[in-house]
Amino acid sequence: MKHRALLVVAGLVGAATLAVSLTVAAAGTSRPSGHATPVKSAAIAPPKVPNAAAIKAKYHGQSIQFIGDAAVGASHKRDLKLVARFQKDTGIKVNLVPHPSGSDAAYSQLARAFGSKSSKPDVAMIDVVWPGAFAPYLVNLKPALGKASKQFVQSIIQNDTIGGKLVAIPWFGDFGILYYRTDLLKKYGYSKPPTTWNTLFAMAKKIQDGEQKSNKNFYGLVYQGNSYEGLTCDALEWVASAGGGNFIDNGKVTINNTKAATILDAMRNQVGKLTPRGVTSYDEEGARNVFAAGNAMFMRNWPYAYSANQTTPVKGKFSVTVLPHGAAGHSVGTVGGWQLAVSKFSKHKPAAIEFVRYMTSPAVQKFNAIFNSNVPTIPAVAKIKAVVKTNPYLTPAIANVARVTRPGKYLKTHYNEGSKAIYQGVSQILNGTPAKNVLPSIASKLNSLIK
Ligand code: GLC
Repeated sequence: MKHRALLVVAGLVGAATLAVSLTVAAAGTSRPSGHATPVKSAAIAPPKVPNAAAIKAKYHGQSIQFIGDAAVGASHKRDLKLVARFQKDTGIKVNLVPHPSGSDAAYSQLARAFGSKSSKPDVAMIDVVWPGAFAPYLVNLKPALGKASKQFVQSIIQNDTIGGKLVAIPWFGDFGILYYRTDLLKKYGYSKPPTTWNTLFAMAKKIQDGEQKSNKNFYGLVYQGNSYEGLTCDALEWVASAGGGNFIDNGKVTINNTKAATILDAMRNQVGKLTPRGVTSYDEEGARNVFAAGNAMFMRNWPYAYSANQTTPVKGKFSVTVLPHGAAGHSVGTVGGWQLAVSKFSKHKPAAIEFVRYMTSPAVQKFNAIFNSNVPTIPAVAKIKAVVKTNPYLTPAIANVARVTRPGKYLKTHYNEGSKAIYQGVSQILNGTPAKNVLPSIASKLNSLIK
């Protein structure tokens, strides 16, 4: 299959392998959409630090800074809990600093810190598309964590290995999924969620027309339409799922093609109709807030939104499945996810490494999956019953979706500039400019960056 081959070539997160591992994890529970029983997150506590006494003896009293997650769903709360546990067990003080919610803004913040050789942060969250760009500033974790790294999805380990150095350890994975309202599906006489974008639009229209009679704020579809990294992820799904390629394929810039233009124009045509006008400023939480308030039928988002929505008015009224595809394509999900890395400029590297060891451990990944529906990057964790139960996207029918990767492999240290060209261009389209007037300039920018 073409997409699988591309993944191997891309070497930027082996989502195919991840999908396969997760399938094994949940074998026998195949179903097109997930209906999991939410486990009360309050009942789950962060695990103990396994080797705490030894760590305490050596590093007690040291202080490290950790750039962690933004307040996206319960992600910051997750970090607070884990940090508190680590501090309590080891005596190492962890100063938790949430990064800006946009991945591209978080990138700029870190780039500034590394560029000025700042001793802070000691540990940082690294987006799956960054290892290539930041490798020169990161500690090779192979000597300390090489053995532990064997239990992870190996394609992500490869993604985090630059020039033979393991510069980051996979923390949690991500891929785009479709959230939908099960109650409204039923109310309007549909037996299953849409498989194509056209069906999604048709269903969204009927449901929106009906719901808007009593709720003027109700819309068919929400997603990440702001001009930022999240839009690159969503646009990749639209274009790839319509058979329009992955922006750059086999080293050639492919974004300027008719299939890409058709699907991007289809999305543009719905802004202000089936999609709220405000979508062009939505990030993950922007979209989720609308869906969680009961004001959207369909939402594209990452798995974290599954647990985050369990404490909202749509609890018990929604489910997840794979994203739709175009007439000429198949369903895909953009590969996302985060790693933890230690800065070369840290003054407390061994303590920082112990923090990374704990934070990426199987026990913490289990906690993350149950507390915050974060995709485990350790296949054995994805097989744990309680994890499968709370993370319905781990069922084969969803986890097996073809994963598509952003063009990090081709853009290398220019990834951020390339992604910016993509999301700014797509934003222009969503804001009203026909795709054919924008795609040539995105293509030429990408071409100049891969030269
Ligand atoms: C999620 C993904 C990350 C991506 C970001 C875009 O956090 O895990 O890979 O860059 O969303 O908004």
